[in-house]
Amino acid sequence: MTPVAAYEQGCGEQRLIAKFEGALWQTTVADSPLDVVAWHGNSVPYKYDLFRFNAIGTVSYDHPDPSIYTVLTSPSAVRGLANIDFVIFPPRWMVGEDTFRPPWYHRNLMNELMGLVVGVYDAKAEGFVPGGASLHSRMSAHGPDAETAERAENAELKPHKQDGTMAFMFETHAVFRPSAHPDVEATRQVDYDNCWTGIKARFGEGGK
Ligand SMILES: [Fe+2]
Repeated sequence: MTPVAAYEQGCGEQRLIAKFEGALWQTTVADSPLDVVAWHGNSVPYKYDLFRFNAIGTVSYDHPDPSIYTVLTSPSAVRGLANIDFVIFPPRWMVGEDTFRPPWYHRNLMNELMGLVVGVYDAKAEGFVPGGASLHSRMSAHGPDAETAERAENAELKPHKQDGTMAFMFETHAVFRPSAHPDVEATRQVDYDNCWTGIKARFGEGGK
């Protein structure tokens, strides 16, 4: 949804504040800077209902790369490394056969900040609540928690609707540096890596 272009005039002197490199800068301008009277091309502000995203997934087997859920991307000069990707995990049908359906265990060149808006994320059976976020910096191994892995291994692979859920992810070549603000530090989950405790070795007899 894009707003109808509108403008302000005759508002008198205004204080204009801009953020640059983490610092706030201000100046005064003679009138309102909101003097837009039309949008140019697709350079418009808009809002988008993520529940209307047309999700695509496997209709045969295997777990496709989550980049298929990219809503917006800012590609960098290096192929495969985005300035930032905005990815969502919306309600969708899971129908893969002969497939471990949750996201696989992996490590990335990009840095992943994931958050949950509503519902349950399919790689975290518990401990990942709406409003929560996880951060996996580049080359940090991660994947489904122990309970999710156990459930997926024993699941009957009939069509399943992943419903009432919305998770999001920002992926970027830049390393996230969480704020040292006490309010942020106080919410850290210091035992986060315990979610992978108890994952069983799934090799067969004789190391095969
Ligand atoms: Fe990941």
